[in-house]
Amino acid sequence: MIRANDIKSAKKILQDWRRKNYSLTLVPTMGYFHDGHIALMAKARQLSNKVIVSLFVNPAQFGPEEDLDKYPRDFDGDSKKAAAAGVDLLFCPTVPEMYHDNHMTEVSVRELSARLCGIDRPVHFSGVTTIVAKLFNIVQPDYAVFGEKDFQQLVIIKQMTADLHYSTTIIGHPIVREKSGLAMSSRNAYLTDYEREVAHSLYTALDSIRREVQKSKGQKVVAELIKMAKNIIIQHAECSIDYIAIIDSDTLKPCAVISQLSRAVGAIRINDRIRLIDNVALYDEPV
Ligand code: PAJ
Repeated sequence: MIRANDIKSAKKILQDWRRKNYSLTLVPTMGYFHDGHIALMAKARQLSNKVIVSLFVNPAQFGPEEDLDKYPRDFDGDSKKAAAAGVDLLFCPTVPEMYHDNHMTEVSVRELSARLCGIDRPVHFSGVTTIVAKLFNIVQPDYAVFGEKDFQQLVIIKQMTADLHYSTTIIGHPIVREKSGLAMSSRNAYLTDYEREVAHSLYTALDSIRREVQKSKGQKVVAELIKMAKNIIIQHAECSIDYIAIIDSDTLKPCAVISQLSRAVGAIRINDRIRLIDNVALYDEPV
C-alpha cells in the first residue's frame, strides 16, 4: 500500500494508474476503522483495479459545539487495517492543504441537506458535499463506495454526483452491525459498556417497525409505528430522541403510507453526549 500525505503526490500516482487504464474506486473516510469501513474497502476491491481510501477528519462537517477535537483517531492502526484490506493508496491530506487560508467555495445540496439530521446539524451536509466534491476532483474515481449507515449522506452524494455531472458511479453498501444489532460507528468508541447496551435500542426500535410492517403487509398507520418505536427507546432514561421517522428512500420525505421504498430512520442521544444514527429498509429493496 502506498501512502500519500499531500495532493500532488497522490495525483502523480493516480495519473500513472489512469495512464495504465486501471479503473479506480474511492472510499472516503474519516478513519478509526471498524468492520463497516473494512467492508466498504472489500466492496471497492471487487469493483476496480485500484482502491483508494481517503482518511481525513473534515472540520467543515462539524458544527462549533460538536466533537471535532475529540473525534477518535488512530493513524497507525488504520494504516495497518487498510493495508490488510488490500487498499492500494491511502490518501491522508492535511487540513491546511484541503482548506487553504483563502478558501471560499462551498458545495451544498439544497432541500435534502435540510431534512432529518440537517435540522440538528445545519452545516454538516454542506461540509460533507464540499469535501467529497474535492476528493472526487482530486481522485476522479470510476466508483465511490458509501455506507447506508449514513443513509441521508448517501442520498445527498448521489444527488450531488448527478447535479454536478461527475462520471463517478456511487455504490451504496449495507450497514455492518454488532451482534446486538448496534450499527458499527467510529463514535461507538465514546460509549461505556453500559451505554453500549442501551444504544442498540435504536436498532431494536427501527427493526420493530420493519417487523410490524411486514406482519401487517404495510397496512399499519405510520404515526402508530413511530409511537411504538419511540416507546422502545424512551424506556431507557439515558436515551433522548432527535427524530424517528418513516421516509421515502429517494426523496427522504416522510411517508404518509408505507411503500416498497419506505425506510425507518432515527437519531438518538445517549446521556446528552453521544449522538447515534441508524436506519432500516422496511422491505428488502436494493438502494
Ligand atoms: P466515516 O464516518 O468515517 O464513514 C466512512 C464511510 O463508512 C461512510 O460511507 C459511512 O457511511 C461508512 N460506514 C460507517 N459505518 C458503517 C457501517 N456500520 N456499515 C457500513 N458502512 C459504514 O461518513 C464519513 O466518514 C464522512 O462524512 C465522509 C463521507 C468521509 C466525508 O468526510
